[in-house]
Order: sequence, then structure tokens, then C-alpha cells
Amino acid sequence: MLKGRHLIDPEDLHLQELEEIFQLTNLIIKNQEDFHNLCKGKILGTLFYEPSTRTRFSFEAAMLRLGGKVIGFSEPGSSSVMKGESLPDTIRTVAAYTDIIAMRHPKEGAPKYASLYSQVPIINAGDGGHQHPTQTLADLFTILKSKGRLNNLAIGFCGDLKFGRTVHSLIKAITRYPNITLYLISPEELQIPAYIRKEVLEDKNIDFIEVERLEEVLDKLDVLYMTRVQKERFFNEADYIRLRDSYILDLKNLAKASKDLSILHPLPRLKEISTEVDQDPRALYFQQVKNGMYIRMALIMKLLGVDKC
Ligand code: CP
Repeated sequence: MLKGRHLIDPEDLHLQELEEIFQLTNLIIKNQEDFHNLCKGKILGTLFYEPSTRTRFSFEAAMLRLGGKVIGFSEPGSSSVMKGESLPDTIRTVAAYTDIIAMRHPKEGAPKYASLYSQVPIINAGDGGHQHPTQTLADLFTILKSKGRLNNLAIGFCGDLKFGRTVHSLIKAITRYPNITLYLISPEELQIPAYIRKEVLEDKNIDFIEVERLEEVLDKLDVLYMTRVQKERFFNEADYIRLRDSYILDLKNLAKASKDLSILHPLPRLKEISTEVDQDPRALYFQQVKNGMYIRMALIMKLLGVDKC
């Protein structure tokens, strides 16, 4: 039963609960008109202390499509956060006006901290370079729709694996399925954090290799998850400029990949996927964007207990 729970980390959802969310998402996609009024009278609070396009708009669109309403801020400068109000006081206040809150914050652990003060479900919409569990829902659903399974997959993660919270969350979630092999493709400075390598991969005997060159492994992959180098997490501009264009996926290097490859990217993208790839049937990132809205509809329904299924 998901009703009333917080979603802070991908592992907050058991595999059976994930399966139920995927089933509900499929129903929503097939019968959208049946869901238009299910959240009538409910209010979603969106507290975005960091910029967002997809996550905030998809949460808002999800609640509006379910017949609910949305209040919130897209940057904290317009709120009493600017007067020095603490996170607990902000959360207690917004929780008094809403039924569910989606929150993005630059500090790792901020949504977890907020959940200690909230009477309503808190959804982590991205906390610093840590986790992004609802992007993971969209990613898993997109992989499931394209490959027909979430097990027996070779998945390449390419780019900024150090700061990319979507990478950390998806690695945590996908390695709970059997027979997953990970190819971790990054410059040495942008390798996955030590805690992911130890606690999520080594301690659980997950099959993974780390390489610097995408071309070395591209032909082995079922799924390629490209990522942007996260400028906002760098301490040093010179390092960012040196590393930002480490990988560029274009039609020339894609010629070496499987015809069945699924190319995902959480977006926004900069130069790491050439726009010429967008028309390739293997490019699924804009489908992933749309899936993100439908899966957030399912998640909101489950957390509010308005699941009519
Ligand atoms: N994927 C993602 O989190 O995108 P936004 O930063 O635009 O929300």
C-alpha cells in the first residue's frame, strides 16, 4: 500500500509496487479520459529550489490531468525562504495547504529531512547530485516498453556518472532485476561515487566494467543512457569546460551500435547527443519525457490512495 508514503529513494518502492505503477501507467495511457477527475479536490505543492523543465511541468501536468490543482514555486526567491525561513517551517506550512508535495533541492538529503516534518507525502524531485527517483520511474518504464523486460540487459551509462543523480537512481533501481550488466563510460574524474560502487555494485555482486571510450562498448549495449556533464555541480569552471564535450553521440558512431539499441537521456541535453540522432528510431528520449508525465500521474494516484484499479 503506497498511500501516504514518501518517495525519497528508488528503493522506497518494492519491485511489486513498481510493477503496479507500470500497470496503472499503461491503463492511463490507454484510457486517459477515465482519469480526468480522480484527483478532483486534491492539491499538489511543487517546491523547486533548483531549475527544472521536465520534472516540474510533468508533475503539474500530471495533477492537472487528474483533475487536481497545483500551487508552489519554481524558484525560492519569491517565497519566505528569502526571509530566512527554515526548511522544516516551509514544509509544515505548505503541507497544511496541500495533499502531496514534489520537492527539488540542491542539498543532498533535503527531501528526506523535509519528510520528517510533513503530514503529506513528500516526493523527491531531485536532491543535489544524489537521487532522482521519479526520473527513474520514467526511465524504467521507457526501457520496459522498448525492450519488453527489465532483466537480462546490458546497459551503458555515459557521461557525468559522478554528479548525475538520475544515473545513481537508475543504477540502484535496475540492479534489483536479474542479470544486469553495466558499462560505466566516463572520464576518470566523472566516475560513479564510491558509495554507489561499493554498496550498490560490489556488495551485491553486480557485473560492471568502467571504461573511458564509448566506442569500446557501444556494440555490446541493449540500452545507452547518455547524460549531460552537470555544470552546476562543478567547483571549477576550467574543469567543466575541459570535460563537458567528452562524449558526442552522432549517426557516425551509432553505426557501430545494435539496431535494437534504446537510447535514453534524462535531458536537458547539450552537445552529448547530436540533434541528427533525434530522428533515429532508437532515440527514445522524447518518449521518455512523455512517459514521465504518465508515470507521475500513476504515482500521484498511488500516494494519494485514489487508485481505482
Ligand atoms: N530530467 C530532469 O530532471 O529534467 P529537468 O531538470 O528539466 O526537470
